[in-house]
Amino acid sequence: MAGADGVPWWRDAVFYQVYVRSFADSDGDGLGDLPGITSRLRYLCDLGVDAVWITPFYPSPQHDAGYDVADYRSVDPRFGRLEDVDALLARAHDLGLRVVVDLVPNHTSSEHVWFRQALAAGPGSPERARYLFRKGRGPGGDRPPNNWESVFGGPAWTRVDDPTPGSGSRGEWYLHLFDRSQPDLDWRNPEVPAMFEEVLRFWLDRGVDGFRVDVAHGLFKVESLRDQRGIPAGGGDLPSDREERSMVAREARDEPMWDQPEVHEVYRSWRGVLEEYSGDRMAVAEAWTQTPQSMARYVRPDELHQAFNFAWLLAPWSASAFADVVRGTLAAVAPVGAAPTWVLSNHDVVRHPTRYGGGSRGLARARAATLTMLALPGSAYVYQGEELGLEEVDVPPESRQDPYWFRTGKVGRDGARVPIPWRGTRSPYGFGPRGASPWLPMPDDWAQLTVAAQRRDPGSTWSFYRDALRARRRVARDGDDVELVEGRSTVLHLRRGGLTVLCNCGTRPVRLPAGEVVLASGRLERGLLPPDTAIWLV
Ligand code: GLC
Repeated sequence: MAGADGVPWWRDAVFYQVYVRSFADSDGDGLGDLPGITSRLRYLCDLGVDAVWITPFYPSPQHDAGYDVADYRSVDPRFGRLEDVDALLARAHDLGLRVVVDLVPNHTSSEHVWFRQALAAGPGSPERARYLFRKGRGPGGDRPPNNWESVFGGPAWTRVDDPTPGSGSRGEWYLHLFDRSQPDLDWRNPEVPAMFEEVLRFWLDRGVDGFRVDVAHGLFKVESLRDQRGIPAGGGDLPSDREERSMVAREARDEPMWDQPEVHEVYRSWRGVLEEYSGDRMAVAEAWTQTPQSMARYVRPDELHQAFNFAWLLAPWSASAFADVVRGTLAAVAPVGAAPTWVLSNHDVVRHPTRYGGGSRGLARARAATLTMLALPGSAYVYQGEELGLEEVDVPPESRQDPYWFRTGKVGRDGARVPIPWRGTRSPYGFGPRGASPWLPMPDDWAQLTVAAQRRDPGSTWSFYRDALRARRRVARDGDDVELVEGRSTVLHLRRGGLTVLCNCGTRPVRLPAGEVVLASGRLERGLLPPDTAIWLV
């Protein structure tokens, strides 16, 4: 239901992303689980968030940490049972928290019953037509059907054996934009949208408040499955930088596999389903599109409610870059009437204190960026552990689990996925029962970073997040207009309603404009705003 002011709850909500396997382990198997989350919902209320987004907990062989779903309407026994979802939802709603679950429509797991049937049924069958099976090119069909690369590295195609008994020969290829264990569905086959509509209804009936739509820009590929232009024969070099690891599409790159116009029809129909339910159910798209304008197409009034805006997360530590992001984002969503979203970290990218240089400077900058982001209109997404100021962890090679790391040897995403330290002085820091080893090793020097330690310290990053979230409710609700005040290029200075925000990205302290200080991300120096610090004034 819309709030008393007629604004739906999600429009300015702060969402907290729970990465299931790393949040809280109730049964000591080293993996977080649903009862673990339920037991910590009070914590999220104390922190002051409005909603929780929970990453996939469905049955899965876990080749991509649950983003390889084998059954969309059940719970992986490692994470609990369906009753645990019900209990989680009930507790969250009692506490006034909304719950958004992850939906993975671009691909299934290779262990999904549909894919098993497709392998058994053979070429030309209706079972194969739910996926993108094609004959190979060249003599014997030995080359993949086109030159597309998987986001996780290597060709986006894998060849299967011919299922004819005794044939012993190699058969068709199937498309997987991610790992080979994640075959892409063919959204032109009406069985596919029909199945997902049932999945939506299944979770809506259970009471979820919304969905985070994984790879929302991927469902449709150019129908001909033609080659991608600009890729050297034999495949392109894999993108090496962090941005590419985050699946960022470069402007003007030919992308026959992403962001095809047909995808919007799906979201229009989903919007209709969501609106059949009461309570302002919503959906947020993970859509790594090429421009803010193409992102805005996903949030037209009859499509999804929000799309992650990854622009800030990709920007360097620079006032002018931040100003461009704010300006560009607001300009893109305004024509479609959507509220913007802001995000600095998630389970796919290097944590923002590390991106900003690490150590005390990286943390100071991260806090400053967070405070600035929280002042802006629209909603904000916080990734678990950022309220503790956690940095990216250098996970030893033998402990790595991310398929991206295995397929490319590049940084990988495990470093942002290390479990949360709750209390105590040694691993697993209360993440699970004493003695249980967490699925990724936790650093030895996290005793000062635990939730318990930081809640005792009014100067901690945890206390700062709590104060910022409280202050946001009081002073950062004043309309959608943001004025970027002219100023020095090293300082981002903006106004929203009665709130003034400064973020000092330069190297010198700066004078404060008139006003009463609401909150600063660090200590002021003789009344000046030091470098790497942000402040709110009213
Ligand atoms: C999304 C998820 C990522 C996953 C990928 C494939 O980008 O955030 O973790 O690997 O989709 O499902």
